[in-house]
Amino acid sequence: MQRPNDTSTIERSVKVETHRQPMPPRERLERIFAVEHLDALYGGKPAIKDVSMDVYKNLVTAIIGPSGCGKSTFIRCLNRMNDLIPSFSQTGSIRYHGQDITDPGVDPVAVRRNIGMVFQRPNPFPKSIQDNVAWGLKVLGLKDNLDERVERALTQAALWDEVKDRLKASALSLSGGQQQRLCIARAIAVEPDVVLMDEPASALDPIATAAIEQLMHSLKSEYTFVIVTHNMQQAARVADMTAFFSISRGEEGQRWGELVEYDATEKIFTAPSDKRTEDYVTGRFG
Ligand SMILES: Nc1ncnc2c1ncn2[C@@H]1O[C@H](COP(=O)(O)OP(=O)(O)OP(=O)(O)O)[C@@H](O)[C@H]1O
Ligand SMILES: [Mg+2]
Repeated sequence: MQRPNDTSTIERSVKVETHRQPMPPRERLERIFAVEHLDALYGGKPAIKDVSMDVYKNLVTAIIGPSGCGKSTFIRCLNRMNDLIPSFSQTGSIRYHGQDITDPGVDPVAVRRNIGMVFQRPNPFPKSIQDNVAWGLKVLGLKDNLDERVERALTQAALWDEVKDRLKASALSLSGGQQQRLCIARAIAVEPDVVLMDEPASALDPIATAAIEQLMHSLKSEYTFVIVTHNMQQAARVADMTAFFSISRGEEGQRWGELVEYDATEKIFTAPSDKRTEDYVTGRFG
């Protein structure tokens, strides 16, 4: 007697459910960032060179590429987070709603008020769950309806039901996945325009990962997300647009990251224009 065909089961079990809707034509999309000829350097050595790309409003944009190609450097440029690194410098322009945020006259704190960030490792403050979410609101002096705003952010971050009876408990008593959703709630409580996420799910289990992907999908009518991920399936599931960065090598052993290809996620994963993208998304890289 023939054994049942295992392959089809495996194929079925890894089939990814996508949250994406068909992309509207690019000319109908609103540009939120226009990045032009961006070079980012540490100690005078380029980490990324000549990156030009637009980021569109109310979409999820994924940044993918091998380790060290400058993904984190790039998204930290989008909210002036690299300013905190003394050896950092940059050239080129990043217009955010038309204003060049690389201009030294622009207040980085005001930039970060509109462009929030969630990091790879959850970093809640050693305070209560409630105080973590209310923190940014208090800094901004938004003291009206504080409880309602906290509830709204926790609900949007798909955490409210799990914490509503323990809001005064320490944030550090939550699980890793809950802490990461708390950090998302903290980032969205101040109602930013853009949320940047640097590998937000890399330390999470598949259930917490799915919850984060689901919440990006359900919140993108209100926010614009830019997410760095090493997980190809995650990019394919959540992102409308995908940018593939790779490492270029100079004659004297210098290495820097560059943007190889940027297009609708469907195109990047099914019919990329560049051989390097194809090798990476099909796992032939390296
Ligand atoms: N604070 C820093 N000081 C000096 N060099 C840095 C700093 N941060 C990053 N770099 C360098 O810049 C380059 C790009 O690093 P980056 O962290 O942006 O890459 P990445 O694509 O996010 O990598 P990974 O996938 O491993 O997170 C690397 O060569 C790295 O060593
Ligand atoms: Mg990184």
